[in-house]
Formats: sequence, structure tokens, C-alpha cells
Amino acid sequence: LLVAVGGGTLGDAAGFFAASYLRGIDWCPLATTSLSLADSAIGGKTAINGPGVKNLMGAFHQPLGVYGALEALHSLPRRHLRSGLAEITKCAVIADAELFAWLERNAGALEGLDPEAWEHALVAANAVKAAVVAADPRERGGRAVLNFGHTVGHALEAVDRPRLLHGEAISLGMIAASWVSEQRVRAEDGLTDRIRSLLGRLGLPVQCAQLDVVNTMKAIGYDKKTRGGRAMMVLTPRVGLATFGHEVEWPMLDRALRSLSGLAAPKTPPPAHPPARPRRGRGPTRGAGR
Ligand SMILES: NC(=O)c1ccc[n+]([C@@H]2O[C@H](COP(=O)([O-])OP(=O)(O)OC[C@H]3O[C@@H](n4cnc5c(N)ncnc54)[C@H](O)[C@@H]3O)[C@@H](O)[C@H]2O)c1
Ligand SMILES: [Zn+2]
Repeated sequence: LLVAVGGGTLGDAAGFFAASYLRGIDWCPLATTSLSLADSAIGGKTAINGPGVKNLMGAFHQPLGVYGALEALHSLPRRHLRSGLAEITKCAVIADAELFAWLERNAGALEGLDPEAWEHALVAANAVKAAVVAADPRERGGRAVLNFGHTVGHALEAVDRPRLLHGEAISLGMIAASWVSEQRVRAEDGLTDRIRSLLGRLGLPVQCAQLDVVNTMKAIGYDKKTRGGRAMMVLTPRVGLATFGHEVEWPMLDRALRSLSGLAAPKTPPPAHPPARPRRGRGPTRGAGR
């Protein structure tokens, strides 16, 4: 039995090792970061990165059990602590409107490391993730809703310097996804403002002044979820509901990224096609971490 005591980075790598070693051995994550407690320890997705490609090699390998050490949050740096709050917010947006409203009321308690508040938020987020994974363990369909905010988030994680933490990138990615939702699925009025406001109160980034729009677009083109020059996105018509498989055209994504960076839209419309796919190992995602 392999026990992986640590955060999502260690859990992903240890889980992949457990999936591969002797064609699979038992393993258990013991989560010690807010992000792993909230999200990554559950679901059996394991992976390691390759040169310029996140999660290049991986496997679905469910752990025997999932454990977490809530007390470990006390030694976690603030930025890492907040990173997990982005995944908790994601679970609320995609499937639990009550949790979202609770987060709006209790952002201060979470910031103050109130153990009861953290337990409430983690239990609710874990329930969302466990239900989604149980319905679709190998991501044949519905599990994709867990990627809300991740199309743009993964690209920002790969491109942006200084490096964004996973949850920070997902915070920005969720704002971009809700902006696109307002354009594409007639999301309720004020949805993006509401999500942005909560993420800001949770201490997560809500704007990215130095956003490298061109290279982020290229990185999205590199995303394995992209098909035929359109990004595949999860969108939300309202808090508590998400739908997957939306093909989003490049000009709209370009505008969403510019709105994140506070840049005005360019006078000449952006190309209707994605920028050329960067050559392997030479693209903007080279050396990208998680
Ligand atoms: N498999 C999945 O389903 C899934 C889901 C979401 C995210 N992820 C991945 O998880 C990764 C991020 O994981 P993370 O946010 O847990 O960060 P992390 O695992 O990179 O840990 C962050 C840092 O905190 C340290 N640390 C761990 N526990 C600590 C503690 N209790 N006190 C002090 N320091 C501690 C670690 O050594 C590390 O330096 C990303 O690569 C992301 O892609 C995977
Ligand atoms: Zn994530």
C-alpha cells in the first residue's frame, strides 16, 4: 500500500506511480493542503507533466480510501490555503447554489481558519465531487463539469509568470468562463460580477494585468480538450448548474481573456482560427508546471 502524505502535486505523481508499478498497486492519499482536501485527493485522476504539456501521462486509478489532515492547514502558506478555496467555489458554482451563498456569508471565517467553517466547506465540496465522479468515474461525459474554469485556467498556469498556483489560475479561468457563459448560454444577470466578488473576498486573483493573451491562446490550442480550432468549455447559466461540451470560438475567448487583463478589445478582430500550434517543446508552455 502506497500512502501519499502531501498535496495535489505529490498525490498526482504518487497515484500515477501506484497505477503503473507492477501494473497497479493500492494507494491512499492523505491530503495536507486545502486544494487536495477540497478536490485533488478525490476521484482517482493521477498524472505527471511532460515537457510543455500538463498531465501528459496519467491514469485513472481510484485510491482504496481518501484521508485528510485538517490541522495541517495551519502550517500552509496563505496563498496555498486560498488556492483550495477556488476549487471549493468551483464545486459550488457547478452544483451547489446553497454552498455558494454560504461561502458569500462565511468568507471571513474561512480566512480566519475557523475549523468548523473549513469542515463545512470541505464536506460540501467533497460531496459535489464524489457525486460527479461516482456518476462518471472515467470522464466519458458528465465528469467534465469539474473542468469549469480549467480551459483558461490550465493555459494561464502554463504561460503566466510569475507562476500562478493552480487555484489562482482557476479563479481567473472561472471568471473567463462565466463571462463566456453570459455571452453564450444567457447566464443570469450579474453572474460574472457575483463570482468575481466572491473570489476576491476569498483572497483569490480576479484580474491579471500582465496577461499574455497571445501565448495563452496558443496554450489553449495545446489543450487536449480542444477540437478543430475551438476550445471546449464548461459553461454555467446560473450558480449551481453547469453544462459541458460548449465549443467556443477563438474571437470570443480572446475577448474573455482581454476582459480579464483589463485590456480593451483590439480594433482589428482577432483571427477566426487558432494561432499555429507551437512545436513540441518550443511553445510557450515549455517547462510549465502545475
Ligand atoms: N488529480 C486531480 O484531480 C487534481 C485536481 C486539482 C488539482 N490537481 C493538481 O494539484 C496540484 C496542486 O496541489 P496543491 O495545491 O495541493 O499544492 P502542492 O501539492 O504543490 O503543495 C504546495 C506546497 O505546499 C507544501 N505543503 C503541503 N502540505 C503542507 C502543509 N500542511 N503545510 C505546509 N506546507 C505544505 C508542499 O510541499 C508544496 O511545497 C496541481 O498540480 C494541480 O494540477 C489535481
Ligand atoms: Zn483544478
